Amino acid sequence: MTSPDLPAELRTALNAKLEGLSRNEAAGRAAAISETYRAGGGSGGTIKSESDALAYALARMPATYAAVVASLNGLTEIRPDLAPTSLLDVGAGPGTASWAAAETFPSLQDFALLDANEALRTLALDLTRKSSRLRGIRYELGQARTYVTHADTADLVIASYVINEIGETERAALTDAMWAKTKDTLLVVEPGTPAGYARIIALRARLIAAGAHVAAPCPHDGGCPLVAPDWCHFSQRLQRSRAHKQVKGAELPFEDERFAYVALSRTKVTARPSRVLAQPDVGKVEIAAKLCTPDGVVVTRVPRRAKADYARARRWRWGDAV
Ligand SMILES: C[S@@+](CC[C@H](N)C(=O)[O-])C[C@H]1O[C@@H](n2cnc3c(N)ncnc32)[C@H](O)[C@@H]1O
Repeated sequence: MTSPDLPAELRTALNAKLEGLSRNEAAGRAAAISETYRAGGGSGGTIKSESDALAYALARMPATYAAVVASLNGLTEIRPDLAPTSLLDVGAGPGTASWAAAETFPSLQDFALLDANEALRTLALDLTRKSSRLRGIRYELGQARTYVTHADTADLVIASYVINEIGETERAALTDAMWAKTKDTLLVVEPGTPAGYARIIALRARLIAAGAHVAAPCPHDGGCPLVAPDWCHFSQRLQRSRAHKQVKGAELPFEDERFAYVALSRTKVTARPSRVLAQPDVGKVEIAAKLCTPDGVVVTRVPRRAKADYARARRWRWGDAV
């Protein structure tokens, strides 16, 4: 399992960029960017300068990195054989998903990134300049669909926190274009909100109809059995560095990032365990766990008297494959 915390090389590169930047200014810019996000806006209108890009990276990159790592951990648990050599990172921003994929897959050699935001591209190139794995990245500046249509195919394609910034019609076309360039697996990660889940579910259904198979988190390729207002999402805890706390004006040394994801593969995965959909309820008499199984959503109850099963269920965590 890959750690959800930023790798040392990336932390060092971010800290080096911080020198000479006022923390108060960065905090102000980060707050304005977060406000735009909360109001439903994207990054295009708010991240314009180098300091905007850095403020965004300080405030949000640790959390989106943790969400991508958690999703990749979910994928590699189901596909331990997966050893991609090429990555296409769509809407790469500061390079978050590429860093996460490099940590997860020592096999990766070829990194192609794309984004429409010049300030984020410049920052990503700066951050990777001294990286042992990422200094050779190719990073194109342009519109996602145009670029993806002309890009080389890649073993692994990732779109992390991107499709929420793209209108519905364009999103469907981009979905098809990303799948067309996927040699093995496409991973899409979104905020863990009902709207993020809805986008994941729509993309999932569209690509299953096109022949894709779910590797994670679902244990089946059927329709999602959850009924609104319920929605499928997960949570990843990450540590906050001093700079991260300062930029967010936060006291707690950690935060929990809620996210939704789907990993779709070209080949069908034979063994797909059930997925824990919420933190299990550990009571004195029994453990109650909400599971997504190949036959639908169930609440499994494991009585304390079934000692071995109870001990096993005690270790279950939200998001685990069991
Ligand atoms: C919230 S950021 C996520 C960045 C990064 N993937 C991450 O997980 O931290 C969304 C990114 O998508 C990019 N983006 C949005 N619409 C795009 C489009 N049509 N073409 C290319 N990039 C786009 C933005 O510029 C921004 O960098």
